[in-house]
Amino acid sequence: MTIILAIETSCDETSVAVVDNQTILSNIIWSQASQHAEFGGVFPSLAQRLHREHIDWVIKKALGTSKKELEDINAVAVTVGPGLAIALEVGISKAKELCKKYNKSLIPVNHIEAHILSPLAVAKNQEPKSNYNQLFPALGIVTSGGHTEIILMKSIGSYEILATTLDDALGESLDKAARLLGLGYPGGAVLEKLARSGNPKNITLPIPMLGRENDLRFSYSGLKTAFFKKLSEFPRLTPQETADLASSYQNTAFLHFIRIFEKTLQSEKCSNVKHVFAGGGVMANILLRKMIRNTCNKHNISISFPYSRKLYGDNAGMIGVVAYFKYLKSEFLKPNEFDSVERIPRAKVDQKF
Ligand code: KG4
Ligand code: ZN
Repeated sequence: MTIILAIETSCDETSVAVVDNQTILSNIIWSQASQHAEFGGVFPSLAQRLHREHIDWVIKKALGTSKKELEDINAVAVTVGPGLAIALEVGISKAKELCKKYNKSLIPVNHIEAHILSPLAVAKNQEPKSNYNQLFPALGIVTSGGHTEIILMKSIGSYEILATTLDDALGESLDKAARLLGLGYPGGAVLEKLARSGNPKNITLPIPMLGRENDLRFSYSGLKTAFFKKLSEFPRLTPQETADLASSYQNTAFLHFIRIFEKTLQSEKCSNVKHVFAGGGVMANILLRKMIRNTCNKHNISISFPYSRKLYGDNAGMIGVVAYFKYLKSEFLKPNEFDSVERIPRAKVDQKF
């Protein structure tokens, strides 16, 4: 039994979790999204201030919910990147403070690794997946507000980025389209709801990178421009036209994702891939999950998603799961060793720290 307290402050969610091995005992998320909405995106200094104001309360709540005390924990885990520098700082300094005060080990965690391992989190009433080693080599796919990546996972902790985006991330792209439709921020979930009553066939948008899929690159900025042009053709939008536009945008953005995903699956490096781990905020989208599942079925590859909605977007539960695997390999630091631990705002998933 390894009890880890995990802290996540990389963007606009202040989150703290307590995990017992892979089992999530508590996963508290205090979302700042509504405070950033008026800026149409995350405002870094506001994020930092709100993290500072709420972190102690979120830690208390996570410990209380898990019925654990700080004395019971083996280590404190914290996201060191990628993310907003001044937001990451809040979690890192709090983690160091707790480790020093209670003489605990510190485990620095990469946020993207946490998204791709989030399907390995286990609920309190579930049996842990003890045979997970058989699932490798695997592919990790992350679709979030800041990242769209396909990662070859040779084993836990050994990664190679196979496909990434040239410009916007998938979630960012959905957020921009939602904003153009006046749906507010963040817009992915609202766009999904609206798209359900629309018909994607009524409005045609260009699928990005057509014929260039072998480059294994995503690109969403051209689609946004095409959408903007399409919108300007409508002097006034009826509710049905708005829904059709939402549906067409979402569908085209996902089709592009799938085309690159499929090319990656067929590439030489993936010939031994047995499983796909999928995570990140946009994976909460039912249509996207269905399209990914169908692609995996077609190629006879198994797939797993996180067990609850809470584990898709940013949350500390997934940070705790990565930390558990690191703890097993003794990848933790003692209080006299961790002054070197710093924020890494542009950390890559294959980067060692
Ligand atoms: O993983 P996440 O919480 O934060 C980052 O690490 O970026 O992802 C946030 C993104 C936002 O772009 C949001 O619009 C999108 O996930 N999102 C969705 C849905 N729920 C959240 N996109 C599509 N459909 C959803 N249901
Ligand atoms: Zn994230």
